[in-house]
Amino acid sequence: MNKKLILLTLMGAASLTSLQAQTVTPQACEQSIVTPKAQGRYLWLPIQEGAPEGKVQIIAGNTFVMEQNVRMAREKVDYYLPLDLQPYQQKGGIFKVVVQNVPTGSICFSKLAQNDDNNYMLIDEPFRPSYHHTPKRGWMNDPNGMFYLDGTWHLFYQYNPYGSMWGNMHWAHSTSTDLIHWKDEGIALAPDAWGTMFSGSCVVDHEGTAGFGKGAVIAMYTTSRPTPFGGDVQAQALAYSKDGGRTFTKYEGNPVLTADIVDFRDPNPFWNEDIKAWNLIMASGQEMRLYSSPNLKDWKEESRFGLTLGCHGGVWECPDLMKLPVEGTKESKWVLFCNINPGFIYGGSATQYFVGDFDGHKFTVDNEARYADGKALWQDYGKDHYATVSFSNAPDGRHPMIAWMSNWEYANDVPTKQYRSANSIVRDPFLYKVGKEYFLGSRPAPEYDKAGLDKQIKVKGSCTVTLSNAEGEEAVITYDQKAMTLSFDRSKSGKVDFNQNFAVKTVAPVHRKLTSLRIFIDNSSVEVFGNNGEVVLTNLVFPKSKLDKVTVK
Ligand code: FRU
Repeated sequence: MNKKLILLTLMGAASLTSLQAQTVTPQACEQSIVTPKAQGRYLWLPIQEGAPEGKVQIIAGNTFVMEQNVRMAREKVDYYLPLDLQPYQQKGGIFKVVVQNVPTGSICFSKLAQNDDNNYMLIDEPFRPSYHHTPKRGWMNDPNGMFYLDGTWHLFYQYNPYGSMWGNMHWAHSTSTDLIHWKDEGIALAPDAWGTMFSGSCVVDHEGTAGFGKGAVIAMYTTSRPTPFGGDVQAQALAYSKDGGRTFTKYEGNPVLTADIVDFRDPNPFWNEDIKAWNLIMASGQEMRLYSSPNLKDWKEESRFGLTLGCHGGVWECPDLMKLPVEGTKESKWVLFCNINPGFIYGGSATQYFVGDFDGHKFTVDNEARYADGKALWQDYGKDHYATVSFSNAPDGRHPMIAWMSNWEYANDVPTKQYRSANSIVRDPFLYKVGKEYFLGSRPAPEYDKAGLDKQIKVKGSCTVTLSNAEGEEAVITYDQKAMTLSFDRSKSGKVDFNQNFAVKTVAPVHRKLTSLRIFIDNSSVEVFGNNGEVVLTNLVFPKSKLDKVTVK
């Protein structure tokens, strides 16, 4: 080693130690006060996934500013997550980080670091997808508030910045111009006095009906607030953006919609040209409530749907409602989407749908018998397709949708570390008719057509498609033309033992003979589209290397 190099190495070591120069003052009752240095935007929190949750609070100039639940490392550090100090640094004045419910001798206090390096201790994880959307660090669940504007697709999502398990719900934001490459745009909505930020949607208010200006992007979301008597109260709130969704201001008159039931969430408003007003669909316990409004603030309940129809094995969540043309006909029908957890025929969470008509006031289902006695139609027959909702304001009358590619049965256990969960590729829903019945299909968005991401297979009759790797791990797709089914078996696809509900085979009904399969394989997922979306199976896999050897029999 030459002298210059030794000097550089020493300097590196010195600056590393100085990273840990914040003052940590231990107090009684498992409380410590951390005084950050003046320099360094990120305070890196050492996390131990198996540790109990502690509290990390910020007190600025004697005012309580925020509190998050964080699994601060006690004996060992699994990974690091940043506490972004910039907002408090910019305000000036003195602020302190208070850590509660963490024994003062815990390892986290000696491993805290503060710097400007966004990539500090970033782990290069083998299961991170190469073309699916993921958070850089931290936990993600439902896609939220997706919209399209001026050439950019905006995707928000349920996000925990302070752990890779569910908690501390924020909305984080990503953008894309091609639906393949996503740019991290940071946090859009943080918890406030009304609670944490649960799921919701965005609309572009072209006419300025809500009073936030023409073209304002308006987010409608659920706040979830714990009560002193146990349980959480859910209410609906608004935030608006005057810069095309880059930054949001919360409406000071929140909440705008409340109800006297516990599960009342995931608002999905849309402009309905038929009644020249806004409609809103809300998941409300075991049914959907439908509303109308001239201005997104004052809501009138119009009707309720679904109490005795479809699957009721769990809570109804994340609704959507849209009008779709029926391919090959001149008809259009309305489709009501209802995510449900649990209740899926193969366990856990999934998306059921109802086909019918909607006049701006009431949704009326076609052929009730299809949904009688707990029967349901499923949008996707894989295990990892949930919280599916659409982009608003999409071009060409499209309603592209994204699903959270996981299942509440094991979402918190999947074998990634510093981040958890990916989103599906974007799909355009469509209706097709077989005999007298309407079925919903989901076609890979046309943006993928020329990207060369998928394997395309011509199907002439029953066949087995095996996806494998050099390590002998495999996922098996079987089309049975006699039984008219398409199945996906991932029981030998690699890591499956992290949760007993993972190693399953699921079977989808096929309504028209298959002539083709499109298969999107990424490092930890497989999405199978029969007849370009008439039947779909979306599944996670955790193989030692990508399952991209395709054998057709
Ligand atoms: C669905 C869901 C939503 C809720 C959100 C909370 O996965 O339970 O109903 O708004 O997640 O993170």
